[in-house]
Amino acid sequence: MTDKIAGYNRAQIILHWLTAVLVIASFVTHEGMKTAWRAVSRGQTDPGSGQLHIYIGIAALAMVLLRLALRYLRGAPEQPEGSGALIRLAGTLTHWALYGLLVLVPVTGLWAWYIGSRDAGDIHETLFNGLWVLVALHTLAALYHHYVVRDGLLRRMLSAG
Ligand code: HEM
Ligand code: HEM
Repeated sequence: MTDKIAGYNRAQIILHWLTAVLVIASFVTHEGMKTAWRAVSRGQTDPGSGQLHIYIGIAALAMVLLRLALRYLRGAPEQPEGSGALIRLAGTLTHWALYGLLVLVPVTGLWAWYIGSRDAGDIHETLFNGLWVLVALHTLAALYHHYVVRDGLLRRMLSAG
């Protein structure tokens, strides 16, 4: 896997923002899924209110798998030169933790729903909370780089390089 390209390409940038939108949309639609989940867990018929959550979640998973394939084939730019070793390591670890959760959250959701596992549902919820915290940290870090460090990091995810 190459890791020394100058910047993300157009496909990587589009997939980054599309994933972000789909993750937020999955969150926005979770109430309908909770209603369906509660009904099915009580042995009642599925009211169908979770369908949107399922479709959006599967689309998010597909985008992440595409992103990982592209990253494997093309690589990703190095962490910014100006940051210290620890900050760079934190950035790399956060990115991989994000990828891990981006795969595991929808997979545990699918597991809960289609295999009918209450434990997988609980894990899905817990992992989502972790994803949320990491996304918040990631967003703050991106804004910190842009407005405080001013190293042009955010631009790497806005225009192809
Ligand atoms: C990126 C994708 C996804 C995100 C961010 C997400 C997020 C969430 C959130 C926030 C909840 C509510 C948890 C709670 O407060 O109880 C939830 C519940 C649930 N989701 Fe997802 N979800 C995603 C994908 C999926 C997929 C693909 C499925 C497949 C069927 C799914 C199935 C479920 C189920 C069954 C529940 C109810 C589980 C429970 O409440 O214990 N989710 N999801
Ligand atoms: C649900 C929301 C988001 C998720 C899941 C997410 C996930 C990721 C991941 C996994 C990477 C690593 C890319 C790689 O090297 O392969 C990344 C990079 C990046 N993200 Fe996000 N992101 C989200 C939202 C945001 C937001 C809101 C911003 C800006 C305010 C942002 C700015 C960036 C930037 C600038 C990079 C490139 C960092 C670098 O080149 O080292 N992201 N994002």
